[in-house]
Formats: sequence, structure tokens, C-alpha cells
Amino acid sequence: MTSGVAISGGVPIEPDDLDVGPLRLRRWRTDDADAVLAAQSDRDIRAWAGGHAVITREDALALLHRLTNQANRASWAVTDTATGELLGSVTVHSIAPVRGDAKVGYWTAPPARGRGVAATAVDTACRWVFATFPVDRIELFHAAANPASGRVAAKAGFTCEARLRRAYRYGDGVKHDELLWARLADDPPPRLSIRS
Ligand SMILES: CC(C)(COP(=O)(O)OP(=O)(O)OC[C@H]1O[C@@H](n2cnc3c(N)ncnc32)[C@H](O)[C@@H]1OP(=O)(O)O)[C@@H](O)C(=O)NCCC(=O)NCCS
Repeated sequence: MTSGVAISGGVPIEPDDLDVGPLRLRRWRTDDADAVLAAQSDRDIRAWAGGHAVITREDALALLHRLTNQANRASWAVTDTATGELLGSVTVHSIAPVRGDAKVGYWTAPPARGRGVAATAVDTACRWVFATFPVDRIELFHAAANPASGRVAAKAGFTCEARLRRAYRYGDGVKHDELLWARLADDPPPRLSIRS
């Protein structure tokens, strides 16, 4: 296990910064709050990657606190290394070393979509978790009505395993069918690149 990274004893995980092509996955900072607030005003993020509504800067700060202060969660701000701009978010949560599994969630800010940011971020985060914890399976759930997320899963090396009927109430208030995907530590890693 990487030094400084822990699950037991309730110590928050402090993930390493990860550089991949033109992206830097780094720890969240409180000065990300305004960019997070702007991204969370996007209809698709609210619908598919919500949870708690983020309406005010205080909501954004509370979200950042949740992302960074849990013992079983590793979360990164996905940024443009050259400009520092916040492009998205990737979080591996429910990291359970005894069970040996975890779950991943993500969003990309609207101006950065369609370039491979989410797939690259998910792949990079999963590789770090596989290398850092005794986890050999990471699960990914998305609404069947959100095909872009399924495309991210496929590109990031996940295999679709099941359709879960009316499994989760999303931000639109509707219980949607979900698709369950998983990537195993020894699945072939994808080859990805960021489009400009
Ligand atoms: C889903 C989301 C994360 C994708 O982010 P991204 O950075 O654009 O992802 P990528 O560029 O890595 O891949 C997106 C893929 O989906 C494809 N796609 C986009 N819209 C699509 C649609 N309506 N149907 C099918 N595929 C679609 C893109 O063409 C691309 O595939 P390609 O590289 O083969 O062309 C982003 O749209 C988003 O934040 N959505 C709202 C939040 C969300 O859904 N989060 C996931 C919750 S499980």
C-alpha cells in the first residue's frame, strides 16, 4: 500500500496526483468551489451524477468536503495541466479492501466533453486504486438512459455485466434501469488518448 494512504481507522484517503497526457488528476482544493458550482449547474450532471443538489457556493464546499474526507473514497479534480482549468471529476468510492472491490463515479464539464477526458480519468483512477489497495474489482453503474456514460465505461476497459431494473432514483426523480459494468485488475488495460 502506498505510504500516506489508508483505509482503516477512518483516516481520509489522500490520493497521489496523477499525470496522464495533457491531464493532471489532483487533490481537490477549496478554491475549486466556483468551478464545481458552475459544472453542477449542467442539466446532465444534475440528472445523472447528482446526489445532493449543489445550488450555492456553500453546497459546492460541502460537496468538496464529502469528496475529500471519507476513509473509503479517493477523489480527484481532473484538470488541464497547461491551464489549470477544472475539466471534470473522478471518484472511486466504497473502497472495501476486505471484499476487494470499489465503485467509480465521474463527470466532465460541458466544454470539455467528447475529448476522452472521462474515459482517461476513470482508467487512470482505477489503475491507481488497483495498485494501491487490495482491490481487484471496480464497479460502475449508470442509467440505461445515459448512453454517453456507457461509452465511457466501455472505453475505460469495463465489461457490461447486468441490467438492474428500476434500480436507482436519479436527479430527475425517476427510478431508472441501470447498467452494471465492472473492470477487474487483470483485465486488459485500454489505450486512450485525449483529443484536442
Ligand atoms: C458522460 C460524461 C462523463 C462523458 O464525459 P466525456 O469526457 O465527454 O467522455 P469521453 O469523451 O471519454 O467519452 C464520451 C463518449 O460518449 C460518446 N457519446 C456522447 N454522447 C453520446 C450519446 N448520446 N450516445 C452514445 N454515445 C455518446 C462520445 O462520442 C464519446 O465516445 P467516442 O470517444 O467513442 O466518440 C459526460 O457527458 C457527463 O459528465 N455527463 C453528465 C454526468 C454523467 O453522466 N456522469 C456519469 C454518471 S454514471
